[in-house]
Amino acid sequence: MSTHFFLLPAITFLFFILLCPTSSLNAVSGPTKHRHEVIVAHHGAVATDDRRCSRIGMEVLREGGHAVDASVASALCLGVVSPASSGIGGGAFMLLRLSSGKAQAFDMRETAPLKASENMYAGNPALKGKGALSIAVPGELAGLYKAWKQHGRLPWKRLVRPAERLAHLGFKISPYLHVQMVNTESGILANKGLRDIFTSNGSLLQAGDICYNEKLAHTLRKISNFGPVALYNGSIGFNLVRDIQRVGGILTMKDLQSYKVKLKAPISANILGLKLLAMPPPSGGPPMILMLNILSQYAIPLGVSGPLEFHREIEALKHVFAVRMNLGDPDFVDVSKVLADMLSPKFAEELKKQIKDNMTFDPSHYGGR
Ligand SMILES: *[C@@H]1O[C@H](CO)[C@@H](O)[C@H](O)[C@H]1NC(C)=O
Ligand SMILES: *[C@@H]1O[C@H](CO)[C@@H](O)[C@H](O)[C@H]1NC(C)=O
Ligand SMILES: *[C@@H]1O[C@H](CO)[C@@H](O)[C@H](O)[C@H]1NC(C)=O
Repeated sequence: MSTHFFLLPAITFLFFILLCPTSSLNAVSGPTKHRHEVIVAHHGAVATDDRRCSRIGMEVLREGGHAVDASVASALCLGVVSPASSGIGGGAFMLLRLSSGKAQAFDMRETAPLKASENMYAGNPALKGKGALSIAVPGELAGLYKAWKQHGRLPWKRLVRPAERLAHLGFKISPYLHVQMVNTESGILANKGLRDIFTSNGSLLQAGDICYNEKLAHTLRKISNFGPVALYNGSIGFNLVRDIQRVGGILTMKDLQSYKVKLKAPISANILGLKLLAMPPPSGGPPMILMLNILSQYAIPLGVSGPLEFHREIEALKHVFAVRMNLGDPDFVDVSKVLADMLSPKFAEELKKQIKDNMTFDPSHYGGR
């Protein structure tokens, strides 16, 4: 197997499963000029950034699957049709609220390999984003499986099969994937594994062309039969480690064997009278809550609608990103003070006071560093 995940390190998928009564789904569809979509569903809804994967999730729900079952099937599908944004070579977060009200946060984010060291990128920060040394220990598959073990109702195989079929039978290259391919064209052309999948006769496949990813189909078949152990302590993992080490990476079998999904308590906030649950650090949940705590003071529940609102949103974002610089990986850094600030409405009030409707400021005003 040659490595067929591209942009391996920084992959996170983003998808939501909404299980809401009809009324609340209607309630959240505000009157926007550009897009007006109302989805009415009595039992559940699936939203991903690719309709093929949303449909796969819906079919799982229709068969009596739990929201977690649908998430697993949809996420694995995204790894096939949107491989530059998502995939089992990367990491993810899953936020879950059960009908009992209990909420869980699965942190399946990728982690640094055991051989990583503080100065491994010294002198060349570009290595953090690209190349063998940027590859981390993948977490998505371990996390999806753990969540499925706790909540799943349908067989694991049933959830892996749709993604496996798409990879094997072929899928249409979406316009978005094509843009990503064009942006990474030289990398694709330079790598035999990627070339075999994403090019034909020496040039990139076009949007709408059928792409076959037989190696990923093979990987998914193993995962369907043996579960994540195929990656974390089996042939998929051995081959992955061998390929990565061959090009100068530091991933080892020990990294894969010792990967642990972390189960955490979600953070929550009250925004405009609604209780919001979010992922705790190291995710983007706390900055998002700070952002909402700033913007909700303007009382514009329908969100950004004109130049002034865009200005306020941008200014708020500058402050939030500056505060976010003080966060760190909670496994290594005490983030409790920054976290408390980010969740504090009082703190957000102070930041809002610094936002002026008629001007912007030098970077130092926002406290960036
Ligand atoms: C492949 O490219 C060559 C040279 O550009 C061309 O002559 C040939 O017709 C192409 N074949 C296909 C199947 O597109
Ligand atoms: C990995 O597989 C080997 C051989 O099957 C087994 O002995 C070992 O306990 C496994 N390690 C882990 C961490 O699962
Ligand atoms: C913005 O408005 C404030 C008063 O609200 C004023 O003091 C300040 O000079 C104005 N700035 C600009 C650039 O017009």
